[in-house]
Amino acid sequence: MKQEVMTIVRQKELAPKIYELVLTGELVKEMSMPGQFLHIRVPRSDLLLRRPISINQYDQDEKTCTIIYRVEGEGTKCFSELSAGDQLDVMGPLGHGFEIDELHAGDTAFIVGGGIGVPPLYQLSKDLTAKGVKVVHFLGFGTYEAVYYADEFQALGTTRFSTDDGTFGIQGNVGNLLLAESIQPDAVFACGNNGLLKTVEQLYSEVENVQLSIESRMACGMGACYACVCHVPGDENKSVKVCEDGPVFQAGEVIF
Ligand code: FES
Repeated sequence: MKQEVMTIVRQKELAPKIYELVLTGELVKEMSMPGQFLHIRVPRSDLLLRRPISINQYDQDEKTCTIIYRVEGEGTKCFSELSAGDQLDVMGPLGHGFEIDELHAGDTAFIVGGGIGVPPLYQLSKDLTAKGVKVVHFLGFGTYEAVYYADEFQALGTTRFSTDDGTFGIQGNVGNLLLAESIQPDAVFACGNNGLLKTVEQLYSEVENVQLSIESRMACGMGACYACVCHVPGDENKSVKVCEDGPVFQAGEVIF
């Protein structure tokens, strides 16, 4: 983990309240695992806590990385008002991301995401397809206007969509998409709300490699404050920190 003042290359609104922000700096050299996150200081003196935001993708040659975030409060609203040339104090990359070493060319991976859980799955999918793994994406959104990165995911592999109101893809949630799928994958990777993650955990209990990226409130982002603790099944005294031990865990490893 390193800290750096990174420079904004560009920013655009992908969907209502969903922003894509591209940053450049030396920190990109440290990025090698999909699913890690950046801890970003809000450039406003009254907002002390950094905001954890997952890395959407990075490009070592261009020295750029991209984050996609939703405006949810004052901190993220402040990020959304920045533009090219502005700077951000960034710590990262933080956490333990998705492990892909065990997958090989010809394997099939299901990549499952909902809403603002979709961004980190893009670098994951790029890395898997580069290895020759066949990816199938299952992506859920609220409505057609909230959909983003549809073309980007479709360019990498089969992509199935659901929306709550049926305005894009099937009507329903990602669980409905998964239930309609007949093939059994070699691995499943998921990021989204707890309901989505629990559905994935239940549906693929027989698949050995199921990795879930857990959402959690964070403060320090580096294992020092215990704001992000989750318990471990079968041992009340044992816990893990989402920021340091996760955010990605094997299914069944933590209670969320
Ligand atoms: Fe402080 Fe995880 S956010 S320990």
